Amino acid sequence: MLQVSKQEGTYLYRQVIDLIAENIDAGALRPGDRLPSLRKMSQTAGVSIPTVRQAYIELERQRRVESRPQSGFYVRHVAANDIVLPTPSYEGEPIPLTCRTLMERVYNGINNPDLVPLGIANPTMARPAAKALHRAMKRVMARAENRSLGYSATLGEPALRRQIAYQYLDTTGVQVDPEHIGITNGGQEALLLALKAVASEGDIIAVETPTYHGLLELIDSLDMLAIEIETCPEEGVTISELERTLQTHDVKACMFSTTLSNPLGVTMPEKDRRKMVDVLEKYDTILIEDDVYGDLRFDGVRPVPAQFLGGKAHIITCGSFSKTAAPGYRIGWVVTDEYIERISQLKRAFSCTSGLLQQLTLADFLASGDYTRHLKALRPVLKRNADRLAALVAEHFPPQTRTSKPVGGSVLWLELPGGVDAENLFDEAIEAGISIAPGRIFSPCSCYANFLRLSFGHPWTEHTENAMRWLGNRVTEIAAQSG
Ligand SMILES: Cc1ncc(COP(=O)(O)O)c(C=O)c1O
Repeated sequence: MLQVSKQEGTYLYRQVIDLIAENIDAGALRPGDRLPSLRKMSQTAGVSIPTVRQAYIELERQRRVESRPQSGFYVRHVAANDIVLPTPSYEGEPIPLTCRTLMERVYNGINNPDLVPLGIANPTMARPAAKALHRAMKRVMARAENRSLGYSATLGEPALRRQIAYQYLDTTGVQVDPEHIGITNGGQEALLLALKAVASEGDIIAVETPTYHGLLELIDSLDMLAIEIETCPEEGVTISELERTLQTHDVKACMFSTTLSNPLGVTMPEKDRRKMVDVLEKYDTILIEDDVYGDLRFDGVRPVPAQFLGGKAHIITCGSFSKTAAPGYRIGWVVTDEYIERISQLKRAFSCTSGLLQQLTLADFLASGDYTRHLKALRPVLKRNADRLAALVAEHFPPQTRTSKPVGGSVLWLELPGGVDAENLFDEAIEAGISIAPGRIFSPCSCYANFLRLSFGHPWTEHTENAMRWLGNRVTEIAAQSG
């Protein structure tokens, strides 16, 4: 019964997991049954004891089995909706992007203002800061009308760079030199400049899986290759898999969101982030940390960017005001001592500078304390919306649906029953006036066919509830048809 066939391209421990899960699903292993001991399983399955142990630990994390001290691993009784999202499957090899056309369609859909916006990650819409920003802009215009129409310095307005440095100090206790901050056109340009500064055509760039689709487009547009690193839905990047990948591939840089990720909404525990920095240092691999969501943890505890955790790894931090204040202002930033001159040259070549009026407005917004007050008010709204959205999934979607448990941000990641193709669902949903983000765009190899990202970063209305009812009913129908 418990024989591993050793398929090529799939990690052995995953095959052990699949084998046991299949036996549980088929009823051959029932709740309360003891799994074979590590040694026994290793002999019958023909794999090593550490491989079996890794598989059992992952099954425990998925809450399908439990370990009992001195006794072994037992099958758990799992209630519907108590199932934890599985660690995602991924290719494990560097590959070019395969879902460009789908991304194009998704962008057209999510930017359509007439649709219920479940596809776009725009947390500020849940509680816009429009009035406070308007007041800040009026103050700026009154103070510096002519200057605000001019060019800013290449790396940005000193007042804003100082305010960003102060914000790091205030929220994390970390001292950042404003001279090491460069203002960019949103987080996306920060990521572009960082990547251009450290890597070239053909280089391999490691990403989490699933990951933010904008990173994948960026890597692809620079003719680089993405390689996926296994990412645990509760703990972030799996360090052992990161190390294994760095051992076997010449990875130039990693682009990770370890403070708060999109779409999983996970913060990597600080001890693991420290280990990650050590591993990167050991393999001399650069980290570009995409930290655009770091201020949006529901509990308000702002994780320290990896760059400031100590160690000697080469790290560039990328931030943005798009998720916290105003995506339309297109203001983001990089933090780096080592690469700041190179980034300044690239910034000048690509876009000269960023909008001065927006920079001055944000500097005033931060200095007045309104930014901090705004974040304090925004986080609980996002948390409430997250809970409501998860409750609607539980109410309307089939019971086999699994959801992430985000600790912040504005998105929920869903695994739908196996036969449901989220890309087809996306097309139908657009027709029904709803935008969603199908799972395929979150991986370079277009896996996650039956996954979906839903946003709760918008004002809660009856349209939201109706849209969720429609989606749940449709997924239930498709799942029933596919049997
Ligand atoms: C994880 C992540 N990084 C970066 C960005 C880009 O941010 P910006 O709008 O500031 O360019 C986004 C936007 O969706 C994102 O989700």
